[in-house]
Amino acid sequence: MITYRQITTADREYEAEKALRNRVLRAPLGRTLSEEDVRGEEQQIHVVAVDERGEVAGCVLIVPAADGTARIRQMAVQEDFRGKGIGAGLMAHSETIARALPARKLTMHARLSARGFYERLGYRVTSDVFMQVTIPHVAMEKTLNPEKT
Ligand SMILES: CC(C)(COP(=O)(O)OP(=O)(O)OC[C@H]1O[C@@H](n2cnc3c(N)ncnc32)[C@H](O)[C@@H]1OP(=O)(O)O)[C@@H](O)C(=O)NCCC(=O)NCCS
Repeated sequence: MITYRQITTADREYEAEKALRNRVLRAPLGRTLSEEDVRGEEQQIHVVAVDERGEVAGCVLIVPAADGTARIRQMAVQEDFRGKGIGAGLMAHSETIARALPARKLTMHARLSARGFYERLGYRVTSDVFMQVTIPHVAMEKTLNPEKT
């Protein structure tokens, strides 16, 4: 069974979260999770998906912005846990957290390869394709609190 937990950078799951991000989001690009990648993360909201043995199967970070929106970053699900709804579960938790901030919109720079995943969850593309960390991305967003737009 998977449970979703909000953690801080002081929690022991943070090291496992970073290891997962390095394995899923950086190693396939020939990179390593950098100082730059983790700078300021103690101010960001971390959600992890944990299995019954305590293994971190997925994670996502939420960055509240000064303009009343919030940004998703570092969404990753470990390969052998994919296709089981964990990514969708992490996004559902992120939306609940972002609504409570309250943020009027959730935004992200999505890898083109994950565009369909976010579209299924109601996100729309708001930019042309651009390159980031050497791969094509698009900006995407979803309105959360329509009365605040
Ligand atoms: C993208 C990712 C987070 C999806 O996680 P997941 O746990 O496998 O996703 P889920 O099982 O919750 O899938 C939810 C739905 O999206 C679909 N989906 C999943 N990945 C998809 C993709 N890359 N493109 C299109 N649809 C996708 C699933 O088929 C499922 O559809 P359904 O509701 O009709 O069954 C995961 O594949 C991943 O970590 N990929 C590598 C890193 C990455 O690309 N991160 C995102 C960076 S922006």
